[in-house]
Amino acid sequence: MDVLTKAFRALGDSTRLRILRLVGHSRLNVSEVVSLVGVAQSSVSHHLTRLKSLGLIREERHGGFTYYSLAIDEKSTLWPLVRLAGEAPDTHGDKARLAELLRRREDVQTLNEKLLEPGQSWRLWAGALASLLPPLDVVDFGCGTGLLTVELARWARHVTAIDRSEAALQKAKSAATRKGLTNLTVLAADLGKLPLPTGSADLVVISQSLHHVVDIDAVLAEGARLLKPGGRMLVLELLPHEETWVKSRLGHQHLGFEPTSVQAAMARVGIDATLFDVGPREASTPFKAFLLTGTRSRRSLTRLRSA
Ligand SMILES: C[S@@+](CC[C@H](N)C(=O)[O-])C[C@H]1O[C@@H](n2cnc3c(N)ncnc32)[C@H](O)[C@@H]1O
Repeated sequence: MDVLTKAFRALGDSTRLRILRLVGHSRLNVSEVVSLVGVAQSSVSHHLTRLKSLGLIREERHGGFTYYSLAIDEKSTLWPLVRLAGEAPDTHGDKARLAELLRRREDVQTLNEKLLEPGQSWRLWAGALASLLPPLDVVDFGCGTGLLTVELARWARHVTAIDRSEAALQKAKSAATRKGLTNLTVLAADLGKLPLPTGSADLVVISQSLHHVVDIDAVLAEGARLLKPGGRMLVLELLPHEETWVKSRLGHQHLGFEPTSVQAAMARVGIDATLFDVGPREASTPFKAFLLTGTRSRRSLTRLRSA
């Protein structure tokens, strides 16, 4: 009884509860726990010592690191605490961060094999193939800090990078300047209403921005309006997921989309789109993306003009 009371008292602390749940899921070292829960190392060490003193977790040395893992199983009287910790709402998005950490760890463990795979050179391949494209006028919808924008500007004639965040645009601009790219203009605007001329772009790229907006039809309609006849639209989005924390923490408006629903929304604004691919396919990340490629058909242009 005394043990249970002590354990309940110790787990009244929400950070300790999160740590128990994380360590209960995978063996972790202190720096990994620090990176996951986002509190100081001294505080994490204190929580781990407390959980260890209750007999809930154990400590072991491996490869120069001290790792923590669950010390009890279903037969222990303390097991209901582990179960409750596991069932508590994941308001901090710990599950997703842990999945990402395990994926990175896995990357290191299998680096040797991966070095021999063509996957290591996908980025080079993508850049090389893009360099074979004709010079295109590109509009990047929701460019953020410009990671993708800079890659587009390497081969495009011109890139207009749009975002509502001035701070993000500043970073995108600096990234382009550092790489010596001068064919990029940044524009602070709302994606649903853009001060850009109709029929002026060869390619509209909408990468992971739709899940931030309430009215995706309005954004896709703006994309379609900007395209020249025969112009292309690329939409990269997340598949449906259950990580509800992204709404409050990251401002997402949608927990991903079914590709067919985005495809139908593109069709409504005159873009004939096909599903290009879905990835990554590994089970470890809750965020999987899909890519739709579409073309603004001349037929749809006539229809839109007459409307
Ligand atoms: C997840 S980031 C995507 C960054 C980049 N496109 C990529 O794929 O890495 C989404 C960006 O869309 C921007 N955004 C969201 N809603 C917007 C809106 N209504 N108007 C303009 N920008 C918006 C956000 O500020 C954010 O920088």
